[in-house]
Amino acid sequence: MKNSNPSKQRLDQLLTSLGYASRSESKKLIASGVVTVEGKKITKSDFKAFHHEVLFEGVPLDPQQGMVILMHKPTGLVCSHDDGEGQLVYDLLPVRWRNRDPKISTIGRLDKDTSGLLLLTDDGQLLHRLTSPKYHVPKLYEVTLDRPLRGDEAEIFASGTLMLKGEKSPCLPAKLKIIGATHVTLEITEGRYHQIRRMFAAVGNHVTALHRSRIGDLTLGDLKSSEYRIIKLDELPI
Ligand code: URA
Repeated sequence: MKNSNPSKQRLDQLLTSLGYASRSESKKLIASGVVTVEGKKITKSDFKAFHHEVLFEGVPLDPQQGMVILMHKPTGLVCSHDDGEGQLVYDLLPVRWRNRDPKISTIGRLDKDTSGLLLLTDDGQLLHRLTSPKYHVPKLYEVTLDRPLRGDEAEIFASGTLMLKGEKSPCLPAKLKIIGATHVTLEITEGRYHQIRRMFAAVGNHVTALHRSRIGDLTLGDLKSSEYRIIKLDELPI
């Protein structure tokens, strides 16, 4: 993982940025003696230490800033920070991670009804890079359809001419692989709003289930639905 904060930091700052407690509560916690640095109890909040040297209640700190999370998103959860929208993908992470600063955000989104591979990060630059339309990282989706294919879909999707309603430019060429009459995989290199569902709507079909199984070379591996793991930067697709 990138060490985006390789310098020593004040203990209260470290705890607050990682979401353990507010700044004033962090000071109190440190004064109460729950923090050790290289094995020594430290009660002064302005003491500076490297992240890896610090234990909180005898346990190493949560990962420092610059982390990337690979999540197996289940259906029914929303890629939003707004609690009003229902259960959130962030609810699958440890509670205190909600209070981290900088905050963790999803890299792109999956619809509420879509399952599969979702990346999250607290690294703003990385987020920007990975969501930039400049990078055409292939994303593979497993698609279940309401109706059998009519036969011309692969050609239309590959042509680079398919226009979606309300869009000014056609979809980039996409690769359709037929698994069965109502089961396909579709590889796209963009991330337009509801893109897969809208592509199939444009050819008179309807997506009944959607699962993202790959981004670049990244797959879910053994991760079960709702599980996540922290990945190394060199595992990323770009
Ligand atoms: N395309 C969609 O329609 N939905 C997703 O969640 C992802 C791609």
